[in-house]
Amino acid sequence: MSHEKVETNIGLMVVLIILVISVGGLIEIVPLFYSKQTTQPVSGLMPYNSLQLAGRDIYVQEGCYGCHSQMIRPFRAETERYGHYSLAGEFVYDRPFQWGSKRTGPDLHRVGGRYSDDWHRLHLTNPRLVVPESNMPGYPWLSDNELDGELIATKMRVLRTLNTPYTDEDIANAPASVEGKTEMDALIAYLQVLGIHVSTRR
Ligand code: HEC
Repeated sequence: MSHEKVETNIGLMVVLIILVISVGGLIEIVPLFYSKQTTQPVSGLMPYNSLQLAGRDIYVQEGCYGCHSQMIRPFRAETERYGHYSLAGEFVYDRPFQWGSKRTGPDLHRVGGRYSDDWHRLHLTNPRLVVPESNMPGYPWLSDNELDGELIATKMRVLRTLNTPYTDEDIANAPASVEGKTEMDALIAYLQVLGIHVSTRR
């Protein structure tokens, strides 16, 4: 009887649907606010410095996440290949995180330190120079584009309002520390710190 009332009254049904979804949503979301595991950085984790932060934005700008994940799942096949599975505490300074879900290429979460800067420079310019069978596109123009130091300082100021612990000094030094650097330098600096704070078996 009462069920029929709900099914024949769309207004009532809408209200009840919103109620059910809200309660379900709150039950899923609220506990996360109290979970330290997802908000505390793993030991040794530092906010990205100005060059790495700029590189992270190049990663987003060029859509690298369309082919690469940064999320090693806790399965043997993944940890044997990439190293320790990803921990939430490694991403607290990533806004937004670059976990991704598409793997045309390998996961990059622990690529930091795996190759030299020179290898990355060749690979990003034309992947076929170092991996002949690669179908990754080249990004040669990144070497021609210089970074805008003031813009990076502004980004750091914004991130500080979101609790990334940058000091006044970090921000003041940002323009000078990226002076003359290219987007390529920045992207490589970023790749080289990915996932290096948790020891891996490599
Ligand atoms: C169309 C898909 C595609 C896009 C877009 C792409 N990649 Fe790749 N990437 C691959 C493939 C496939 C490989 C494996 C072959 C190789 O090493 O080139 C790879 C390999 C890599 C590797 C070596 C990883 C390892 O562990 O050996 C790095 C580093 C990398 N890509 C970085 C990037 C960055 C940075 C960008 C964005 C500027 C990017 N990729 C964009 C497909 C892609």
